[in-house]
Amino acid sequence: MKVQVNRKAHFNAAHRLYRKDWDDAKNLAIFGKCSNPNYHGHNYEMIVSVTGDIDERTGFVMDMKILKDIIKEEVEDAFDHKNLNIEVPEFKNLNPTAENIVIVIYNKIRPKIPSRLELEVTLYETPRNFVKYSGN
Ligand code: NI
Repeated sequence: MKVQVNRKAHFNAAHRLYRKDWDDAKNLAIFGKCSNPNYHGHNYEMIVSVTGDIDERTGFVMDMKILKDIIKEEVEDAFDHKNLNIEVPEFKNLNPTAENIVIVIYNKIRPKIPSRLELEVTLYETPRNFVKYSGN
């Protein structure tokens, strides 16, 4: 019997979506307000979902305290109140769209979760827009 356990977290971060090889007008046409050259912020909400068999000894799929600490170290400490383009190395040459951010988050967390467990990350950039990635 597989059970999914979920942990919610959030971070505030600034970003700008743009391509260096496009001028501001083209960036505005493609990326809209998110191309603002002066950056802007989002309140990102995330759900980290871990699925697997219950450990008979503990009754847990995974210890949620450990999951909480992994999210804090890998995501909150790395992204919260940062300018993603400027301060987070993963986005130095990667457009910080919600799609790319969720993949970066997944790749940071995946090595810390036991390989017998499945991982999925859901990232809300706004209350209405969200993306999911599970390694495929
Ligand atoms: Ni934006």
